[in-house]
Parts: sequence; structure tokens; C-alpha cells
Amino acid sequence: MFATPLGRKQLSRIPTPYCAQAEEFLEQTRLCCAHLAPETKTIIRKLTTGAYTHYQFTGVPITKRMPPTPETYPPPEHSPTYQAEGIIGCIAQSLGRMFGYRENCQHLIYDIYPVRGYEQSSSFINSRKMLGFHSDGSAHTKLIPDYTLLFCIRSDPNSINLIADVKNIVKQLPKWVMDELFEPNFLHMVSQNPPRTIRKPILSHEDGELSIAYDDETVSGTDARSKNALELLNQASEQTASPIKNHPNSLLVLNNKRCLHARTAFTPKYNGEDRWIKGTYVSCTPIKNGTILTLDP
Ligand SMILES: [Fe+2]
Repeated sequence: MFATPLGRKQLSRIPTPYCAQAEEFLEQTRLCCAHLAPETKTIIRKLTTGAYTHYQFTGVPITKRMPPTPETYPPPEHSPTYQAEGIIGCIAQSLGRMFGYRENCQHLIYDIYPVRGYEQSSSFINSRKMLGFHSDGSAHTKLIPDYTLLFCIRSDPNSINLIADVKNIVKQLPKWVMDELFEPNFLHMVSQNPPRTIRKPILSHEDGELSIAYDDETVSGTDARSKNALELLNQASEQTASPIKNHPNSLLVLNNKRCLHARTAFTPKYNGEDRWIKGTYVSCTPIKNGTILTLDP
């Protein structure tokens, strides 16, 4: 059981998060946190204490049929129900404070589905190309998410999430690579247009724990040693990753600083039945709940 009967009833009446001020959505979903089932609360505790670096809730109770998967971006904001968004908001606020990136989406919850013309792009709306190992928001100048939440509305059998725990990755690395990844010898692309990078390490210690900020597509080395270190990091990520299939009505929670994630390639159908994920970000820092961040000018 995911939520108590009262919690399920409340979760079926969640207002839209797709508005300028999502305060009502945040308030209603926050109230649902108390009505999650004890087993759901236990898993959230294991995520917050670090006992789990990721977890997939399956069989989440969604009773209303969702509309066809959109094909163009941004998606239409009208939906007969906000059940999936309610679950996302409730779990997100059990972990910390919800936030979004203006560059991604103007709302707290963003959509991931294949978009025609972007099949081979590096963006999360690609499909025929593998989405490489990364942590979300890894180059953002203000805030990197502590958790990433991915709710699956529709899946594709060929689209598999690959999750690599940083503790397992570093066990595969020679000491010189570990040392190099702690040095500020890497260029992280903050934005493509205008082109902007920041120079910083990939590994760090945060609250006494090993933390990773990396994106295979947008991080580059500055010399031969750092470039070699990246190659070995990518190899170790592939070797240690666990596959996790998306299932309809499942919610994947990732500790975004303790693991990297990737997604295998798949073929889009553009028939309303394509893979469709709704995502959000969570921070454990004292930001205002519901903040939509912009990059520094
Ligand atoms: Fe991601």
C-alpha cells in the first residue's frame, strides 16, 4: 500500500501545479505526507538517511486514465487529473523542498517524452540516442538537486534507466583518477547559448559523504590527465550501473549527489503511447519551497 485510504482520497483531488504560484498545490500535497502508508514512510526515511541511494515505488495508485503522450514541446497544460503530480509533490516534500529550473520549464514539474526532430539531440527529450551518465543540474551555478524524482506515466520496453552509485564507481578507479576527480580541472557547461562554462571538480565531500556532479555530455577535461580520468569514470559508471525498467505508475527517486543516471536509446512511435515521465527536483537546503531558479546573469 502506498498511502492510507484518507491519503489516497486527498491525492485524487490535487489542484494544478501548472500555474504561476503553485502554493495551493504545494499545500495540498504537503498535507498528504502525513497519510502515506507506514512502509512508504520507512522507504523515505532510508532515502533521507542514505541507506538507499535510489528507490523505485511501483504500483502507485493512479485511477484516472492519462491523455495521450504529447508529441510537441512544451506539453499542453490541461489534464483531467493531477494524480501523478500529487504523488510527486507529496514524496518530494517528504524529502525536502521542491524546486525547478527556469531553463528547463516554467513550472515545478517538467515533462520528458520523445519530441520529433530531437531524436538524436543531447537533451532529455531525445530517444534514439542514449542519454549518457549524469547527475541533474550538475553545472547549475546556484543549486544542485539533492533528489531527482521521475514518475513514469508510460514506458517503453527498450528505455532502461541505468543507475550507478558513486561509492561503487570509485571502487573501480585507480587512486590517481580519484585524486584527479577531486581537482578543479574540469569544465562544466552551464549554458550552450550564450556559451558558458565553470571550472570545478567532479567529486567532493558534502556533509562527510562522497558527492558527485557530472554530465557525460557537458563536462570536459582541461588536459590529458583530466581527459583520461573522465574516460575511466565513464567506464566505471557503465560497469557498476544497475538497470531499472520504468513501469507505468512507478516513481523513481534518485539521490542526485550519490549516484549518476543514464537512459538507453529507444524508438519513438509518435502515436500517443510513447514513454512519458514527469519529473521534479528536491533540495534539502533552506530555499523557499516551490522556487523556480534562474541562472546568474
Ligand atoms: Fe537526468
